[in-house]
Amino acid sequence: MDERDRVQADEAKGPPEEDPRIAGEKHPVARMIGIGVVASLVGIAITLLIDWFPEGASGSADKIDTLYDVLLICSVPVFVLVMTIAIYSVLRFRAKPGDMGDGPPIHGNTRLEIIWVTIPFIMVTALAIYAWITLDDIEAKQPNEMVVNVTGQQFTWTFQYPSEKLDAKELVLPVNRPVDFKIHTKDVLHSFWVPQFRLKSDAVPGLTTEIRVTPNRVGSYEVVCAELCGIGHSTMRQYVRVVPASEFQSWVSRQKKAASGGGGGATGGGGQGGGAPDAEQIFTSAGCSGCHTLAKAGATAKVGPDLGKLGNVDANFIRTSIVDPNADVTKGYNPNIMPQNFKQKLSKEELDALVKYLLEAQG
Ligand code: CUA
Repeated sequence: MDERDRVQADEAKGPPEEDPRIAGEKHPVARMIGIGVVASLVGIAITLLIDWFPEGASGSADKIDTLYDVLLICSVPVFVLVMTIAIYSVLRFRAKPGDMGDGPPIHGNTRLEIIWVTIPFIMVTALAIYAWITLDDIEAKQPNEMVVNVTGQQFTWTFQYPSEKLDAKELVLPVNRPVDFKIHTKDVLHSFWVPQFRLKSDAVPGLTTEIRVTPNRVGSYEVVCAELCGIGHSTMRQYVRVVPASEFQSWVSRQKKAASGGGGGATGGGGQGGGAPDAEQIFTSAGCSGCHTLAKAGATAKVGPDLGKLGNVDANFIRTSIVDPNADVTKGYNPNIMPQNFKQKLSKEELDALVKYLLEAQG
């Protein structure tokens, strides 16, 4: 009582000198708890109202969304607690102007230290176990799985369906059928991400990563590369189409017919039917469309020059620009951006077809 009276007396004389409490402060701890509880409730309400993800389209979306909500509910009070104590301490214990003295020597507080180590330890462990159970559940092997090989490459995705013996530049999935994605990369790190599936996995050179998902809503969703993989990273976007099972089957047969008629894709090697390789498919599967605009292929990327507007060029120039891209770099673009291994990547027939296709595109 004497302490407070003295402070009040001091305050009456002028600025407080010994006890710089916040004006009007009577029960600092009770007030801090009150403010903290209100701030936590408001914070939790705000974070739960925010739509962090687009509407789910896979069987695991609900479980992941619930996990995310639980993490938010647990993190907000911790954040509020830390900030309340930090702000209070800054106001309450700030050195007065001109005070150059040392603070009082403190030897720690064992009880407090045990509390602030034990509670976070229990929280983090419990959340880790919960997350592990959820992940284990999502990644469990499913009956009737369809394997899809996903290959990342600067700057495009290609897909292969081993059970259908099909290579595709487009990802189409039958609804409600579990899919086992096996993810590869031909060059650098990429990350295969479909936000609506709540699915994301890195594509790592030399490794096959795996992720399981059961698409449960018909629709078209974006496939995004979520790992900075070079200058065309932001253009490394495609679509996944989730369709009814019957439509999937007819898509597969259409693709196979096209492949056998036009001679295999770029990755499949030369054609069996004897025809020239499908240049437009090579344009996409070899990754050209990830960086270049080409109206007739529907490509709109802007990392490299527009390949429909090369001007007065001949087949030789186009061929050299593909196999030795640094030989003649278009003004306004940089060297060493385009991969220099297309000579190895493309067969002679594929290269010929691509050169012819690009030459025809000039007009
Ligand atoms: Cu591939 Cu970013």
